[in-house]
Amino acid sequence: MIKDSLWIRAKNIEKSGRCPVFVKVFTTEKPLKATLSITAKGVYVACLNSERIGDFIMAPGFTEYKYRHQYQVYDVTDMVEDGENKLEVTVSAGWYAGRIVSRKGDWTPEIIAELVLTFADGKTEIIKTDESWMSGEGPLIFSDIYDGEIYDATRGVSGLTPVIGICDGKTDNLIPQEGEIVKEQEIFKPVSIFTTPKGEKVIDFGQNLVGYPKLTVTAKKGEVVSLSFAEVLDKDGNFYNENYRSAKCQYRYICKDGYQTFKPKCTFYGYRYIRIDEFPESAVLKDDTFESVAVYSKMKRTGNIVTSNPKLNRLFSNILWGQRSNFLDIPTDCPQRDERRGWTGDAQVFCKTAGYNFDVYKFFKKWLRDMDVASREFGSVGFMIPGNNPEIAAAWSDAAVIVPWQMYLTYGDKEFLSEMLDMMISHIEAIKNDSEYENTWRGGKKLYQFGDWLATDTPGADREADFTGPAYNGASRFDFLQAAFYAYDISIVVKALDVLGKDNREYIELFEKVKAQFQKDFPEYYTQTECALALRFDLTPLPEETVKLLAQKIHENGDRISTGFVGTPHILHALSENGELALAYTLLLQEKYPSWLYQVNLGATTMWEHWDSIDENGDMWSPKMNSFNHYAYGAVADWMYEVAAGIKQADDSAGFEKLVIKPHPDKRIESFEATYDTKNGVVCSKWYYDDDKVIYKISLPTDAKVILDGKEYNLKKGEYVF
Ligand code: BGC
Repeated sequence: MIKDSLWIRAKNIEKSGRCPVFVKVFTTEKPLKATLSITAKGVYVACLNSERIGDFIMAPGFTEYKYRHQYQVYDVTDMVEDGENKLEVTVSAGWYAGRIVSRKGDWTPEIIAELVLTFADGKTEIIKTDESWMSGEGPLIFSDIYDGEIYDATRGVSGLTPVIGICDGKTDNLIPQEGEIVKEQEIFKPVSIFTTPKGEKVIDFGQNLVGYPKLTVTAKKGEVVSLSFAEVLDKDGNFYNENYRSAKCQYRYICKDGYQTFKPKCTFYGYRYIRIDEFPESAVLKDDTFESVAVYSKMKRTGNIVTSNPKLNRLFSNILWGQRSNFLDIPTDCPQRDERRGWTGDAQVFCKTAGYNFDVYKFFKKWLRDMDVASREFGSVGFMIPGNNPEIAAAWSDAAVIVPWQMYLTYGDKEFLSEMLDMMISHIEAIKNDSEYENTWRGGKKLYQFGDWLATDTPGADREADFTGPAYNGASRFDFLQAAFYAYDISIVVKALDVLGKDNREYIELFEKVKAQFQKDFPEYYTQTECALALRFDLTPLPEETVKLLAQKIHENGDRISTGFVGTPHILHALSENGELALAYTLLLQEKYPSWLYQVNLGATTMWEHWDSIDENGDMWSPKMNSFNHYAYGAVADWMYEVAAGIKQADDSAGFEKLVIKPHPDKRIESFEATYDTKNGVVCSKWYYDDDKVIYKISLPTDAKVILDGKEYNLKKGEYVF
């Protein structure tokens, strides 16, 4: 049991950034089996006899460490040698104490481990972390998630001194690996290496991503490779990374003599471009010197969309890359600047799409369990998990209800829904207890608001302003959003209680009261988002009028969207569910700013944070808040799967047990095809136009209901053409 080992601490390393190496030399015979269980207060890389153990990058991952600290178990049988062996564990502050979580940088680097050797004669030997271990400084002389790494390949491990054994160290928070492991995934080669107008040497890998470069050079001892990272070039074609804010994102490698291959160890970068700031004089920069390695959580791909429109295909690819780049152990807002945190609102907006694209069940379960423990500590869920805060915000904190429910709908696991139920209810109670008014969410000591974050509906909003201004909060009323989400949360809890066979009368009643109060307080809707939410959350008494108003607002805006993070996932659904399918397609296919295809036309390879991260003049949004890799607006993909291709499930179904295929073709797209790998097999829905006639090709892994142009068919598993 790893819990019986001692946490051991490296001496004399109080500031984060320095990376100690823990060392244990032991002699043994070749075992039949060898298993290492290990974790660290930081991010670790463990090596046995100089070979890296396992392929989990950024282990042990990011959790609410106080309550849940994952350890990993590796089979190291083949790595243990007959005779002397050396186990070395390098640790950086990572998510435990790096700048991402701590301004002060205080850190006490610790690890805990247990190596169990089993021999042919049935005997076992256990090597635990204890005071016989040593620690010293190694070649990784600086590492931080925001600021990057400095690695000196000319140095070995030096200054070894005995570690301190922490006798009162806490081990009851140790849990086995729960989430998906983070792995190296796709590899990109440079698409061009060029000199910018400013005279800087820059490599373009053609894809914005999260990961790191891998280099292969032959150089002389002491020569330096120094790199900077960027997502975009500015309008003059120069390297631009002011938008990383305080994140230094450096990589500096000091070469040893000869041929060497290297890459960062305990950090990651969000980038498409690399600027070469220093390169060994004796080395030759070749096309294969650099590779770019995408690094993110291992997730099985489950969904795909291919259409006849190359711009829509690019949009879909950007959505996938937005997900890959922001699913690195936790769902993050962005992977590059000094944030990279588990923002609850962003995940709430995107989780449905995420579950179509990839199997994200294990990934979200781990994160939701962190949310659950954090919610118990504060009595509510705030803006970021891990790292909860006591405030609550509409559309952000509501992740406590929306994400578990969406995971239930996507994967159909009642047991996990039941595990999450207390948290879901306690969110409603937190609002109820905090709100200064009855049956609505308004006032209250805990209340904070982001509004319809980054909506474009406040004319004249200043893109250079501070991030609390109208350019960030949009025009939808804060108390409207609060009341709407409060009602929506309750309606979900009503359904969850029902599914779990529990009494839901109290919440049915509460919903009716909150809805009635909402209708009293908000007889009019001022923005696209307000209309969309009133329709989607079943709050408007007059849906027909509300959808008319929504359509009118869209037309007045030149047939363009003006919603932010909060309204965007709902607007196309609100239209298509209420008789305005063609207008939903108009928004999807719109190319003028603001629109999804506007950024595609400007060469985006991931989803931008702002509709106009780059404006029509080629100018950037203020570097104070401008990411080119935020997945929130990628939430449109759930409409593409569910409405355009029509892959959905019955209202009373979860885990796609009762498949319903209801495609919605539009002549402006010649063909549209989506596939989704349900747990019962792959479903495919395609439509295309043959002159004016629409042809449907449907492949069903199970019996399903198929609704085509209003006609219903109950079909058996199989392939169909209509
Ligand atoms: C993040 C967002 C987040 C927001 C809260 C930002 O700094 O990048 O994506 O949801 O703050 O409004």
